Amino acid sequence: MSNRINRRQFLKYSSLGMAAATFPTFLFANTSQKIKNAPNPNFKADVEIEFSAKPASVNILNRGEKTQVQKFYARVLKGDPNSVLTLKDNYLGPILNLKQGQKVRVFFDNQLGETSIIHWHGMHVPQHSDGHPMYAIASGQRYVYEFEVLNSAGTNFYHSHTHGETGRQVYNGLSGMIRVSDAQEQVLDLPRNEYDLPLVIQDRTFDQKNQLVYVQRMPERMFGFLGETILVNGKPDVEFSVKSRAYRFRALNGSNSRIYKLAWDDGSPITVIGTDGGLLEKPETRPYIMFSPAERLDLWLDFSDQKIGTSRQLVSLPYDGVMSMMYQRMGRKMSANLTQGSKFTIARFKVTQKVSDSPKLPSQLIPIKRFTESMVNNTDNPLPIALSMGRMQARINGRSFAMYKATKMEQVELGSYKKIKIFHDHSGRMGSMMAMAHPIHLHGQQYQILSRTYKGNDHAAYNTVKDGFIDSGWKDTVLVMPNEEVEIIKPFHDYKGLFLYHCHNLEHEDLGMMRQFYVG
Ligand code: C2O
Ligand code: CU
Ligand code: CU
Repeated sequence: MSNRINRRQFLKYSSLGMAAATFPTFLFANTSQKIKNAPNPNFKADVEIEFSAKPASVNILNRGEKTQVQKFYARVLKGDPNSVLTLKDNYLGPILNLKQGQKVRVFFDNQLGETSIIHWHGMHVPQHSDGHPMYAIASGQRYVYEFEVLNSAGTNFYHSHTHGETGRQVYNGLSGMIRVSDAQEQVLDLPRNEYDLPLVIQDRTFDQKNQLVYVQRMPERMFGFLGETILVNGKPDVEFSVKSRAYRFRALNGSNSRIYKLAWDDGSPITVIGTDGGLLEKPETRPYIMFSPAERLDLWLDFSDQKIGTSRQLVSLPYDGVMSMMYQRMGRKMSANLTQGSKFTIARFKVTQKVSDSPKLPSQLIPIKRFTESMVNNTDNPLPIALSMGRMQARINGRSFAMYKATKMEQVELGSYKKIKIFHDHSGRMGSMMAMAHPIHLHGQQYQILSRTYKGNDHAAYNTVKDGFIDSGWKDTVLVMPNEEVEIIKPFHDYKGLFLYHCHNLEHEDLGMMRQFYVG
């Protein structure tokens, strides 16, 4: 029944069925996909950063042999020397500290010995600086990015975006955090400096010789690759020594496909002050928070009432329903040690010093101008993002990624706001058997979530996740559970060109679960 409704909606909204034949896809050959390797003399950069990516060996496990990785390096050529913060002895790329309004130029030197390109996930930048895979450069080449920071204060994510290789390259180390600050944020009494820390959560599998294992057999490509060791900020078994005060932890799920259900082991609630695109209007406190690949969460972790010596664990709690039973059974065979939805510790926080200078949780943060249906020009005709899985296929609106193509339906007028409806297309041969949770990411401007509706009937499973979605803030990645339908409003302002949207389960992305809008 629900399958048929979805199918009908799908046809109505996408006008795909017949339309595929009627409207040929538009070919954007020569739409400026020329590699940009010279700076624009008219772009007066405030900050210039030289990035490189190369093979390296890093001490990740703190025992035995070092691990071979692919790693980003960066140094400031011009401007604020604090724009780059290198993490010592780490396989993560340096943290970029940018300010709203800054003009940034990045030179990217690829020294990997293979093709690559960097994408600034969450940043609203022009097509030529967005790291679209059409711009991937060969080893030995240089790419020049130029953009102004239009984003509000928040936490973003840079990573390689090489088509078909994103999963492997990110897994091997090609990612890092971007922090954007702005004047509005500065006014708030938020934890700063040593009390404002990254919390990059990743899962990796190591072999006997401490080397990273990444396999791309059928099950991993269909479900996503799950690692058996949890790394926080590039290290296993992490314990933070904290003072008895409040901290701001910028959590970034840098995993390829693992979804975390973040909670405190002692059952106390957890407080969020920001999501992907910036600070919330006011803090939200939840028993747990669902955290899917590429999402960011600004966490307010307060240890003020903790005694010295207490240790608390941030854990991932068990949950159900992100995969159908069939998948779960197959998945269990694939990665017996740490399945999706099992319980494990992420990091420990030990209170080692008593202090009395803690800021108080603000009751109001940053005002958010709400997008409403009256701003969009397609209220009754939302753009569909219909997700489907088949045997070795992962598609959007029935199609796989094509480098220079967007359909008629994927053309969006510059300056518009669009209502977009993300749902599961169960019309395929395997139907809902194949439905699984997908973290859906759209490049370009941050969007707002209008609604999230569960249409399934496995309420027992859904109840294990349903209180964990923070939908009130700026988003660029949203977890869409099986049988869920999520409506968003997204602005398409400032820049023309091709802007990707895809599943951020990186194995799904590499399998082709990616399309693009042509904004023009
Ligand atoms: Cu982080 Cu196109 O993605
Ligand atoms: Cu992105
Ligand atoms: Cu997916």
